[in-house]
Amino acid sequence: MPVIVLASSKGGVGKTTATLTMASVLTHHGAATRIIDADPNSPINRWAERFPELVPKNLSIVPVHRTDVADHIDNAPDPYVLVDLEGSKNEEVSVAIGRADLVLIPMQGNQLDADEAVSVIKVIRKQESIFKRKIPFCVFLSMTSPVIRDRAMKRILDQLRENDIPILRVNMFQRAAFKVTFNIGGTIYQLTAADASSPSAAIKNAEEFMKEVTAFIKGDWPLKDVEAEEEVKEEFAEMEAAGK
Ligand SMILES: Nc1ncnc2c1ncn2[C@@H]1O[C@H](COP(=O)(O)OP(=O)(O)OP(=O)(O)O)[C@@H](O)[C@H]1O
Ligand SMILES: [Mg+2]
Repeated sequence: MPVIVLASSKGGVGKTTATLTMASVLTHHGAATRIIDADPNSPINRWAERFPELVPKNLSIVPVHRTDVADHIDNAPDPYVLVDLEGSKNEEVSVAIGRADLVLIPMQGNQLDADEAVSVIKVIRKQESIFKRKIPFCVFLSMTSPVIRDRAMKRILDQLRENDIPILRVNMFQRAAFKVTFNIGGTIYQLTAADASSPSAAIKNAEEFMKEVTAFIKGDWPLKDVEAEEEVKEEFAEMEAAGK
């Protein structure tokens, strides 16, 4: 039962969106999944309550507040457990990290986010010493543009790598398809071209992302055969040229 915890001390970097996207991929491929919505604003639970008929049958969502996050993680019946935390540092965040098989830390490619990622890693290290076990973690780039890469981002990524901080190769790109599901319900698999441009590109991105996450959990990382960033860039360059 892998427990995947999305954590960042900074708000608004894409934890909730990545959580729902990953759950969408897992459930679409037949893996029963539980999302523990540990954000006091309960964004995923609200999505489910607003559009109950569009929620995948093998996805369960439990809103959890403050104290009982550990119990809910330990007693979750489904093979995959995803924990969406609020964007801050508190007791609950530390407890959830202490239970994780993998902590995923989203960041946009700027220095502020990199500093926040390092502060989450410090919490992970502390939980490792309390529980006397390794807690695997990795950083991923969230809400990035598939076409624009700046030098500052490259420097930041190089610094993280020099400090042995693993970074997923697949980004969770900025795509309308990832956010529109919160507005109209359902998952990326139910979207049509009228809902968001190129849902199939979002699905491909999400599946590559989940493939890399799964490999990380299994210890098969780094993966050689995930779609290279350059190919995705080309695909977007073609889309832009075609005015899509
Ligand atoms: N990959 C993405 N593509 C497009 N929009 C995104 C993506 N990820 C996040 N967003 C948008 O960015 C905003 C913040 O995302 P989200 O709520 O997922 O962040 P969060 O880290 O969970 O925030 P908080 O810390 O407040 O819980 C939302 O408006 C969401 O729709
Ligand atoms: Mg959130």
